[in-house]
Amino acid sequence: MSNDIDRVKVLEELAEEVKNCTRCAISQYRTKAVFGEGDPYSKIMFIGEAPGKTEDETGRPFVGNAGKFLDTMLNAAGFSRENVYITNVIKTRPPENRDPQPDEIANCRCYLDRQIEIIDPKIIVTLGRYSMGLFLPGVTISKVHGVPYMKNGRVYMPMYHPAATLHQPGLREVAIADMLKLPKLITLLENGTVKVRKSDGSTVAENSHVTHEAETPAEKAETPAVEMKQEEPGENVAPQATEPVQEKTEHKKERTDDGTYQLSLFDF
Ligand code: URA
Repeated sequence: MSNDIDRVKVLEELAEEVKNCTRCAISQYRTKAVFGEGDPYSKIMFIGEAPGKTEDETGRPFVGNAGKFLDTMLNAAGFSRENVYITNVIKTRPPENRDPQPDEIANCRCYLDRQIEIIDPKIIVTLGRYSMGLFLPGVTISKVHGVPYMKNGRVYMPMYHPAATLHQPGLREVAIADMLKLPKLITLLENGTVKVRKSDGSTVAENSHVTHEAETPAEKAETPAVEMKQEEPGENVAPQATEPVQEKTEHKKERTDDGTYQLSLFDF
């Protein structure tokens, strides 16, 4: 979505829709819908799973114990809640914090898709498996956490859900280490070209200056499950400065035959 719309206003209108949404039976139990918050012009959007008790009471995402650790992760990488955007796959707390059901995820998908379209982030960080499953189906969090993927011009970075670190303290360091990759990733995306690896193992230069085009439903349907490719020693390459116009053509050509690429960054 272009910069010429008032994102704050459009998001407020959407939040109002979400507030009044009764598509799911769980809407009758909620205190407040949790739409999302942060900088609507941020380059990074974090997508969690579903509101918990404190979020339901306050109408704000990630303000309970998991949220405190998300703040720690953000701060470690020099971010704050105010300069990123944070939302969830579903906007209503499931009773007893049970897992979101497929129909609830499907019902809420249009709201998440609109948020993504309006904010148009360069990087989407998925927090936990429900969020990851929407964008990178078929992967396993223990294998792909901290590995950035390129899909239709946008980067997806899967990370552990902060709540997982509450149950498994050993994951805290891992979660912070994954978050620390984001500033460098942003710099690479803004300053040049990154090399990406297609799921068939071949590599291609991907110019991050190419403007993102919204995924069409057809493109989405055709996006194959991501295959993880292990890096071979010495295969990684540093980003190269290239001619934007030239790269734009290559980007388009390569994007159409396989929508999902794993970024291959020299020191990730
Ligand atoms: N867990 C989530 O996934 N989202 C929240 O907002 C809070 C906890």
